[in-house]
Amino acid sequence: MTAVATQEIPLVDLRAQYATIRDDVRKAIDEVLDSMQLTIGPNVRAFDEEFATYIGTKHSIGVGSGTDALQLAIRACGVSGGDEVITVSHTFFATVEAILYANARPILVDVDERTMLMDPAAVAAAITPKTKAIIPVHLYGRTVDLKPLRQIAQDRNITIIEDAAQAHGALLDDGTKAGAGGRVNCFSFYCSKNLGAYGEAGSITTNEDRLAEELRALREHGQSTRYYHPVVGYNARLDEIQAAILRIKLRKLEQWNARRRKLAHMYDERLKDSGVVTPEIPSDERRHVFYTYTVRVGGGRRDALRTHLGERGIGTQIHYPVPIHLQQSAQFLGYRKGDLPVTERVASEVLSLPMFAELTDDQLERVSDAVRSFAKAH
Ligand SMILES: Cc1ncc(COP(=O)(O)O)c(C=O)c1O
Repeated sequence: MTAVATQEIPLVDLRAQYATIRDDVRKAIDEVLDSMQLTIGPNVRAFDEEFATYIGTKHSIGVGSGTDALQLAIRACGVSGGDEVITVSHTFFATVEAILYANARPILVDVDERTMLMDPAAVAAAITPKTKAIIPVHLYGRTVDLKPLRQIAQDRNITIIEDAAQAHGALLDDGTKAGAGGRVNCFSFYCSKNLGAYGEAGSITTNEDRLAEELRALREHGQSTRYYHPVVGYNARLDEIQAAILRIKLRKLEQWNARRRKLAHMYDERLKDSGVVTPEIPSDERRHVFYTYTVRVGGGRRDALRTHLGERGIGTQIHYPVPIHLQQSAQFLGYRKGDLPVTERVASEVLSLPMFAELTDDQLERVSDAVRSFAKAH
């Protein structure tokens, strides 16, 4: 039998969070099961309203996942075969997958070295007459500046679709919330997210009534009323159990995000001069909700630090090791190594440390000590 080191401090501890809301969650699940209203019903309708109010949009349309959200949003914006959609290569695969589902061409641009987010200058250089949409990704919980993107998009009939899958509650550059800045915007409630379901779930937010109506139809096989299908849609429904759980968790989100920010400040302080580059905290710190706390480790030492932490029972992750333009399945797009130098460097250096609202001060000290002890030894 091989010995497996127990992860004393996991990257994300979902059980620790569950312990704080267990009674409410079990009661809510019981109520749904007693009612046997399992798909779009009172909880989905209530969550759609509560989430829209929280984000500050007229509508939220709960769907089956963040990938569903992106797929439906892209389709509702009229993106189709031959169109180009600009996004980053330094993101989770689903952002690009959703563009491909629409038979559109993803145009992958480089990120800014400091923020590791979409570089507006690279977007400007990638615009062509075929550009139909731009998808900024608020990666790690930090929001992309939308102002320069709006300047690029305006007068060109280009739609901005935010991928806010990692940025629940983060503020945009104009002080509104992520998810209120594009024409349609997408959230994932994947279990590890700042607002995570206990299964699959997502949402699309928008201020446009007609689009909201279309999206509500698309999430249910394109039906307008039951069994009448003016368009071909998807099975992309949010289910009642997930919606009931999300309603409970939404009430805690601000408090959880505040704790994440506090932890980020503590890491920042403790990891000074530890040989890793800590993520920049924006001047308005409310622009970052620290879905992940992702440091950079240069000099080819990243993987050794990861091993060092793993040996001490500390969970880490690489978000993300292979940029999309270098993924095997994306070869047909014709990109090569070297095409997006900042993205490629970032992918070789990033390392996410434990980050979740229930991480204790003591646990954070132990992670920081372990990072510092690596620096001393190397
Ligand atoms: C940036 C980003 N986009 C899209 C998705 C897709 O969301 P889901 O996993 O809920 O389909 C995720 C989450 O996993 C994500 O992090």
